Amino acid sequence: MWLEGKRVLITGGSRGLGRSLCVVFAREGASVAFTYSTDQEGAGETVNQVSVHGRPVVSARASVLDRESMGQLVARCEAEWGGIDILVNNAGVSRVLPIALLEEEDWDELVDINLKGTYLTTRLVLRGMFRRRSGRILNIGSVAGIRPLEAPVHYAASKAGVKGFTEALAKEVGRYGITVNCLAPGILEGGVGLSLPQYRLDEYLKHCALGRVGTFEEVSEAAAFLVSDLNSYMNGGTLTMDGGL
Ligand SMILES: NC(=O)c1ccc[n+]([C@@H]2O[C@H](COP(=O)([O-])OP(=O)(O)OC[C@H]3O[C@@H](n4cnc5c(N)ncnc54)[C@H](OP(=O)(O)O)[C@@H]3O)[C@@H](O)[C@H]2O)c1
Repeated sequence: MWLEGKRVLITGGSRGLGRSLCVVFAREGASVAFTYSTDQEGAGETVNQVSVHGRPVVSARASVLDRESMGQLVARCEAEWGGIDILVNNAGVSRVLPIALLEEEDWDELVDINLKGTYLTTRLVLRGMFRRRSGRILNIGSVAGIRPLEAPVHYAASKAGVKGFTEALAKEVGRYGITVNCLAPGILEGGVGLSLPQYRLDEYLKHCALGRVGTFEEVSEAAAFLVSDLNSYMNGGTLTMDGGL
């Protein structure tokens, strides 16, 4: 098992890709703590699915922008598990809005969750990783932040920011034995991809060599490898998974 004995924190685990990451990581032997923002029922379902693999699971209702609640969760993981080996910054939102209708509040809300939330969570978890001189951080980006797909500009900008954050942080913390990478999926079977209008989905499928959207599970399998000890020399990298755009 790739993640035997590892202690993992995943943000946004109540559905979509986050839930799949929790389940696949537990199957690979990890203890899993995850957060969510509002979807208590979905979080309960994630707990059920993780429990099938017999691994410890902690679920916490905490926005990535709520420094106090996130601090309490990290402190709890440190106290009960002795630390966090792997952080996956997955929590994210998207809203399809043309630039003419994109108000400053829309921009702030989305960029705060997708980018500032990544920074705040990372800073909290890094303290323990510095002490232990080891850690793996995986940030979930998007091809929308890399290639000129038609995507909402605030979403694309936030995901480009996540890629830049990954690259700069990797340079800074590599000397402490901590690696930081980014996984950038194309359109997936559900979640934020569902908010796209049909014509954009059709356009994507036309240009995608595999001619289909990705599944949460196939992205999670790649993520499990990326944060495992097998992946020891990739640092500051971004892996795109888009079926060949
Ligand atoms: N699906 C795609 O096609 C696709 C493609 C490329 C990249 N991605 C990226 O993959 C990640 C997951 O997306 P998804 O499609 O799985 O989305 P999703 O199904 O909408 O799930 C988003 C998750 O993030 C949580 N969340 C939202 N705001 C939060 C906040 N302020 N604090 C903490 N958690 C929060 C949600 O919690 P609640 O349910 O409680 O609100 C939920 O668990 C995102 O970063 C997204 O940008 C997705």
